[in-house]
Amino acid sequence: MLTKVLLILLGLSIILPSRSEGPHVELENGPSAHDAVYEPQPQAAEETQTLGKLSAATHILNSILNNYDYKLRPGIGEKPTVVTVELSVNTLGPISIVDMEYTIDITFCQTWYDERLRYNGSVESFVLNGNLVSQLWIPDTFFRNSKRIQEHVITMPNQMVRIHKDGKVLYTIRMTIDAGCLLHMLKFPMDSHSCPLSFSSFSYPESEIIYKWEDFRLEINEKNSWKLFQFDFTGVTNITETISTPAGDFMVMTLFFNVSRRFGFIAFQNYVPSSVTTMLSWISFWIKKDSAPARTSLGITSVLTMTTLGTFSRKNFPRVSYITALDFYIAICFIFCFCALMEFAVLNFLTYNRTKPHGSPKLRHPNIRARTLMPLPVSAHQYPDAFVCQIEDSDESDGEEGPSCPAQQSLSTGGIQRPGGCCKWCQKYFCVVPKCEGSIWQQGRLFIHIYRLDNYSRVVFPVTFFFFNVLYWLVCLNL
Ligand SMILES: *[C@@H]1O[C@H](CO)[C@@H](O)[C@H](O)[C@H]1NC(C)=O
Ligand SMILES: *[C@@H]1O[C@H](CO)[C@@H](O)[C@H](O)[C@H]1NC(C)=O
Ligand SMILES: *[C@@H]1O[C@H](CO)[C@@H](O)[C@H](O)[C@H]1NC(C)=O
Repeated sequence: MLTKVLLILLGLSIILPSRSEGPHVELENGPSAHDAVYEPQPQAAEETQTLGKLSAATHILNSILNNYDYKLRPGIGEKPTVVTVELSVNTLGPISIVDMEYTIDITFCQTWYDERLRYNGSVESFVLNGNLVSQLWIPDTFFRNSKRIQEHVITMPNQMVRIHKDGKVLYTIRMTIDAGCLLHMLKFPMDSHSCPLSFSSFSYPESEIIYKWEDFRLEINEKNSWKLFQFDFTGVTNITETISTPAGDFMVMTLFFNVSRRFGFIAFQNYVPSSVTTMLSWISFWIKKDSAPARTSLGITSVLTMTTLGTFSRKNFPRVSYITALDFYIAICFIFCFCALMEFAVLNFLTYNRTKPHGSPKLRHPNIRARTLMPLPVSAHQYPDAFVCQIEDSDESDGEEGPSCPAQQSLSTGGIQRPGGCCKWCQKYFCVVPKCEGSIWQQGRLFIHIYRLDNYSRVVFPVTFFFFNVLYWLVCLNL
């Protein structure tokens, strides 16, 4: 009886601690329990078969690799190794305009035959992962225009080798390449580029390694989120060329990824503000010429805005020395704004210069005005200031119906004293004064009446701008 009680106590003392440490114990026992669960139920035949296959595979692989010299290319001394290339583009872009480079994420597949890797057996092919790649000979392909290459190593190196029975080897690697791409920005923003990706063997010249496209299998899954943003992908072209270097002639394969710029972004950022600012500067022509502050500030504001827009358009832009199509447009808009401002300056200068020094009340006498309205029989020598009166006159008649230049005011051309020191050039070619003798003046000379300058501008500026736009867009969109 006592022994029974002792045994029970003993049993309890064993069970209780084990219960209290229950989870811990279970955890420790876990793997073994799992093993027990997941271990293949002893189906003897299958197990021996898999074991047989496994050992056979191990045997084949070891026999291949034991006598394998990965330092030598296949077919050395006999024939060049033909490497067939296949490429699939995972991501294209973004294209960095400032650095003139683009990013591309590719899976690069190369296939070649290596007789040393032939084997007999039931296994069709071996797949070796990234760690074993170094035990085989691999073509030393490199990307000629790459700036940075990132290999992907998570979770294992993203590369793979598959060895087929007949010695065919497929080597696949994924990488992200930052490659240089010379961008010709002359037609910016109507530009399109073809960004190359060229590769060749680093050490084996053409006589030792030949590259071939695998039926030009270039997988481009455009539906994927390519990060081209401003650009549209327009196609891909491949070329094969041989380049000579001091180390020999190398076979270079190049792919060109063609992209063209999406126009909308730049249009709204640059063209619309430029055109609107230019049109805004024309408002000046409808403002009275007396209100100098209004017209000057309008003109200066538009000129400054164009300057800002010009600077802004060059932001995030490579520092190319030539002017682009956009620069040209902005420059022309700038000139338009500048001319609008200058138009007022000229108008103001000429009127001011004429009126001020001779603005004595005597000259504004009505009878002189009356006289000028009549066909003047005598030469202007006697009335050197007659045109000043005329200006006053037209001023009073609201500038709209100033005296028409060629018709009525018949005075001889000579002898006009220029009070404001206007250059002889104006005197020669422009009839800025109302003394335009029909016969002499009209011969190959331009009649510009100062008081009509605003009227002229209201037509000339918009029409010129319109034709400039038509011409610009015709040229830009067709080139
Ligand atoms: C594979 O077997 C064939 C005959 O069945 C033989 O001629 C060949 O040499 C074998 N190859 C290797 C690598 O053992
Ligand atoms: C591009 O690759 C294809 C596929 O082999 C080939 O037929 C074609 O000639 C190549 N294009 C150029 C320009 O080499
Ligand atoms: C891509 O651009 C190159 C060079 O500008 C051109 O020769 C080729 O025809 C273009 N390919 C496509 C598909 O547009």
